[in-house]
Amino acid sequence: MTNWQELEKKYLFNNVERWPILPVKGKGSYIWDENGLKYLDLVGGWAVCCLGHSHPVMTKALTKQSKILVQCGPQSCNQPQLQLAKLLVKISCFNRVFFSNSGAEANEGAIKLARRYGKLKLNGAYEVITTLNSFHGRTLAMTAATGQPHYQDAYQPLPTGFKNVPFNSIDAIKNATTKDTCAIMLEPIQGEGGVNIPDEGYLKSVRQWCDEKDILLILDEVQTGIGRIGTMFGYQQYGIEPDIITLAKGLGGGIPIGAFMAKEKCSVFSPGDHGSTYGSNPLMCATAIAVMEYVIKNDIPDKVQKAGQYLIDGLNKLKSTYPFIIDVRGRGLLAAIEFNKDIALSVKMTCIENGMMVNDVKPNAVRVMPPLTISNKEIDEAIGIFNKVFSSLKI
Ligand SMILES: Cc1ncc(COP(=O)(O)O)c(C=O)c1O
Repeated sequence: MTNWQELEKKYLFNNVERWPILPVKGKGSYIWDENGLKYLDLVGGWAVCCLGHSHPVMTKALTKQSKILVQCGPQSCNQPQLQLAKLLVKISCFNRVFFSNSGAEANEGAIKLARRYGKLKLNGAYEVITTLNSFHGRTLAMTAATGQPHYQDAYQPLPTGFKNVPFNSIDAIKNATTKDTCAIMLEPIQGEGGVNIPDEGYLKSVRQWCDEKDILLILDEVQTGIGRIGTMFGYQQYGIEPDIITLAKGLGGGIPIGAFMAKEKCSVFSPGDHGSTYGSNPLMCATAIAVMEYVIKNDIPDKVQKAGQYLIDGLNKLKSTYPFIIDVRGRGLLAAIEFNKDIALSVKMTCIENGMMVNDVKPNAVRVMPPLTISNKEIDEAIGIFNKVFSSLKI
């Protein structure tokens, strides 16, 4: 397709600054554009393609299930849904699962569950405390939950019932808590906010506060879950258990599926309280089972810890070479490089010219979130391309 940019201009909403290339094929850690040019993909479908592109276990599961049963609707269970729910409960601290189609939808469901809990057990409490610089999705309620005014301003008035407070401050949470608070919702590490890692002890303090006040802790692990930061779930690194967790991205490895899971104490939905036509779709659930079984069998979270350290070591070497790099941070295979100037867009574009995809998560920071199966050789290649890009920048 040679005139794809004309088609884009003519037929698509102008709602995002898109890459100047059209990906047409993916395999492992690489994608190819319409001209056959190859790119090392450190974006991975937006932290989604945990097994890389076109992994055979996914292709096989999709093909097999598509011949058996694709869709059956929310008023019946289906076998892949039950099997996936059983597996997720077995490997986590939760008791019940609801499947959605995306991360935002999983978060919406989690908030509805928390509000239901508030109505039934907390004298009608409904308010949810979230943090500044967070990201919870693009629906109206999740835009209100997302503490970044540039996502919110165009859509005022937003749904009420959310308070955005500074991240990494237990005092801010304490000060914002009232008799109307039913839950606190956090990302263990803020992804879209720029890979912001809280102080050791922050999540523990939040957990303690929730216990003291008898309110719920919801962790949005849409980005950090399924091995991304080196454990199956992020909460496992912080010595706490949330009451509710939300997942998406890595759960399906590239197909649209999300989930929220809850402990029994807050599994308070009654028939009719929540639903989704395509959530629990057998085709998506069967594929997610294949992804999860591969992740578990091959101990991908452990591999991510090692690969993540290798990546951070390589990025730190670049930091010691280039004074305009002021910070390298990350956990597992979610990392950011921060600059002393707003050069992230220029870094991204120069990376693309040099055959690599990265994300300009902030004007002064790029983020990498590659497939969890990325090899050390591919990480070496990434560091080599960054080196070439940084040495060519005229700043
Ligand atoms: C932490 C977090 N929550 C929610 C979402 C929204 O997920 P989705 O785009 O699947 O709705 C994202 C997406 O980047 C995310 O990073």
